[in-house]
Amino acid sequence: MFTTARPAREFHVADLPNDLFESIETLKRELNAVIIAHYYQDPDIQDIADYIGDSLGLSRQAAETNADVIVFAGVHFMAETAKILNPDKLVILPDLEAGCSLADSCPPEAFAEFKAANPDHLVVSYINCSAAIKAMSDIICTSSNAVDIVNQIPREQPIIFAPDRNLGRYVMEQTGRELLLWEGSCIVHENFSEKKLVQLQIEHPEADIIAHPECEPPLLRHADFIGSTTALLKYARSSEKNSFIVATEPGIIHQMEKSMPGKTFIAAPPTGNCACNECPHMRLNTLEKLYLAMKNREPEINLPEDIRIAALKPIQRMLEMSR
Ligand code: 13P
Ligand code: SF4
Repeated sequence: MFTTARPAREFHVADLPNDLFESIETLKRELNAVIIAHYYQDPDIQDIADYIGDSLGLSRQAAETNADVIVFAGVHFMAETAKILNPDKLVILPDLEAGCSLADSCPPEAFAEFKAANPDHLVVSYINCSAAIKAMSDIICTSSNAVDIVNQIPREQPIIFAPDRNLGRYVMEQTGRELLLWEGSCIVHENFSEKKLVQLQIEHPEADIIAHPECEPPLLRHADFIGSTTALLKYARSSEKNSFIVATEPGIIHQMEKSMPGKTFIAAPPTGNCACNECPHMRLNTLEKLYLAMKNREPEINLPEDIRIAALKPIQRMLEMSR
């Protein structure tokens, strides 16, 4: 059984072993750890992970694991969700600075006022938010179950949907319901260029455009399929098409190419001449930091118990409603 006692000394970059992959596997056995990674992580991290998935899959995995230590290769709100579900386990995030622009676009104080101004509304929050926002929510959703969850709520019940306005608009379109939206967004998914996408489509008329619902409506209008990261993977797998223009963080293309070697995946272009459709938060995690985090058993995720208990309820509700 793993003990939470801290190792005798801190390990630094100078202590990195030559064979990181093998050393991480050894640490995994020693700590009885599981490595859970999001599709937007670097290919190396995806390759060493025990489980890779979208936010719903990662939450389910975190809820079911028997490991003593959860190494979460993703962003802060994802690791925090794992801790909310597993208060007695050690949850570590390779880089504590790995936040999320969308979660940051919904500050708890301002959201509390918004909620208080609309007391008859049920609060459905996208999982990309802080524990403080989850604690103020009635039900959590992810991009893979948002439409289904809203459809399960009686039609006469007014709903606040937070924090992503783009996912919110997509849910409104799919359900035919009016939602009161919090005006938050993701810097990565709002950075695709519609003009360049249309140009790319002209160059590749054979390709289907597949997009994440965090993209803006003008971009989504060009999509042949819209879904969560896992849904995009499944669509490409089952499609008869052989090429796809992918409008989400390009980290997922590693998994697409790995599982469909005969198919072609083209990253949708950002507005500038930059790699600015890579999530700067996700990409703070590296294989080296992941090794050091396991070795040092930190940075550790912790949160106040009252917030954890309040945030747990809407997450459990989501897990029940999306069985
Ligand atoms: P998924 O739930 O589709 O993996 O999305 C997570 C995310 O952060 C998208 O930006
Ligand atoms: Fe947050 Fe956007 Fe990064 Fe997803 S891609 S983690 S929503 S900043």
